[in-house]
Amino acid sequence: MDKKLFVTIAAAFAALLSVSGCTGEKKGAPPEKTAAEAAPAVQAGSGDPASGKDIYFRYCHFCHGQKGMGDGPVGIALSPHPADFVNDEKRMSKTDAELFKSITEGIHKEVGGEAMSMPRWQEILSEKERWDVLAFIRQLEREGKTAPK
Ligand code: HEC
Repeated sequence: MDKKLFVTIAAAFAALLSVSGCTGEKKGAPPEKTAAEAAPAVQAGSGDPASGKDIYFRYCHFCHGQKGMGDGPVGIALSPHPADFVNDEKRMSKTDAELFKSITEGIHKEVGGEAMSMPRWQEILSEKERWDVLAFIRQLEREGKTAPK
């Protein structure tokens, strides 16, 4: 083979390798962790209910209702009904970590729930916002229980 040609081909190969090396690096990056795998940056129980209240009335009350009884204007049309944070003691006896997971991932067919139920909030709310709204839900639960019937 002509030496000059050989050098050109070798250079082309080297260029190719460095390019593929680049994309290889990208592929080699660790896959994004799911919420369940990632260590929570915000600790359970540290949510701010005042900030959670804003989030609740922006995103959740349509289904879960003003006082968290699962009777929002959209919620009453849903089957299963949205969780009643005040009266469904069995559900609310779940740990914060379990409820946080439900808020993060939602409850739907892929995670063993019914087809149309609880949306997943992972892409819409930050981790802190999800803890804040959970803190507000716990507040609704307490208030609902102590409110005169
Ligand atoms: C489209 C209606 C809808 C909206 C909006 C909605 N939810 Fe729900 N949610 C549901 C339904 C339905 C269930 C019950 C699902 C089931 O048991 O299959 C539920 C259940 C829950 C539960 C109980 C989870 C468990 O593990 O038992 C929590 C906590 C909750 N929702 C929090 C929220 C929060 C926080 C928001 C707002 C950021 C929200 N939901 C917005 C419909 C909704």
